[in-house]
Amino acid sequence: MVKKHGMIPFTELKRAWNWRQRAGLMAGKAPAVRVFYGPGEGSGLLERVAVDRFDQHYWITVWEGEHEHQGREAGALVVNFLKSEQSAALDSAVLLVRPEKGVPGDPLVVHGAPSVGRFEVNEIGSYLIQLLGVKHPGLFLDHRPLRDWLVRHSSDWTVLNTFAYTGSLSVAAGLGGAAHVTTLDLSKSVVGWAEENWKLNKLSSDRARFLAGDVFEWLPRFKREGRKFDCVILDPPSFSRGVKGNFSTSKDLKKLHLMALEVLGGEGILISSINSANVPWARFESEVLSAARERGLGFELLQRIDLPDTFPTPFEKPDERYLKGWILRLRTQRI
Ligand SMILES: C[S@@+](CC[C@H](N)C(=O)[O-])C[C@H]1O[C@@H](n2cnc3c(N)ncnc32)[C@H](O)[C@@H]1O
Repeated sequence: MVKKHGMIPFTELKRAWNWRQRAGLMAGKAPAVRVFYGPGEGSGLLERVAVDRFDQHYWITVWEGEHEHQGREAGALVVNFLKSEQSAALDSAVLLVRPEKGVPGDPLVVHGAPSVGRFEVNEIGSYLIQLLGVKHPGLFLDHRPLRDWLVRHSSDWTVLNTFAYTGSLSVAAGLGGAAHVTTLDLSKSVVGWAEENWKLNKLSSDRARFLAGDVFEWLPRFKREGRKFDCVILDPPSFSRGVKGNFSTSKDLKKLHLMALEVLGGEGILISSINSANVPWARFESEVLSAARERGLGFELLQRIDLPDTFPTPFEKPDERYLKGWILRLRTQRI
């Protein structure tokens, strides 16, 4: 396989690199961008590879197939390309091999000496990235369009960002002028990271609350307290084990939306996003609609959430577009 790519050196990687460069995605100081997305841009070994650029540092993901050695082979191929591409300014690279089943190990260093601590990159806002000792670098690049939307629309809102991870959507809302942002995630360590991201963007601590806890505990609690938010963000993982039991997008979407609707204010914005290829659009739609109907609520659809152009997928395989969601505005009248 490497031989094949050796004969046509880096054609697919170079093509992907060039169009992003022409589109201005690599411009500016410390850019953060997906520079290659194998499912749409690669073939052979590269079909199962994604490459994220964080300034001069690279995070390479390989979804491993039947052969265990594929991850390292693909990593070496990408590193050789980045070395050959002067504008890549390659300083360090790590490789995360995702096995077909189970949890991946820690990232392997495949070039240079990545910094042990976090470093800053710029996208829609500034974010801290970590390459070592984590399973993910801290910024989901597929949510760039949503961050962009939040920066343009959040002025004066009170925002509840659930399943917040490192709080990039909170930062975007903060930069958009939100009056107050509550950031909630199960993991104490990512909530700390989210707080660091907030400070990095010079956002005032008076406009923020950071909570480590279970969404299924906090949503009922906010309801009991009579709290309402102008915007509620839901971005659950496919599966998680919380304090209140397990959650899965294939089973619990309606339950989650029923709870979230209780804390959404009049004309409130519900942002609902999932990243589960196994939940088709129609299923997702029917779960959200059914929750809205049960609460007697109607919505205006403002925007559909989909993968950005840096995550192209084969046209003939629409199911590969794993990211799906809506930005909805509550109508005041009940239906
Ligand atoms: C897909 S990530 C969210 C990404 C984030 N919205 C972003 O754009 O950066 C899912 C997050 O949900 C959190 N999580 C999972 N189950 C949870 C629960 N029951 N309550 C709160 N957070 C939960 C995980 O810790 C993880 O950080």
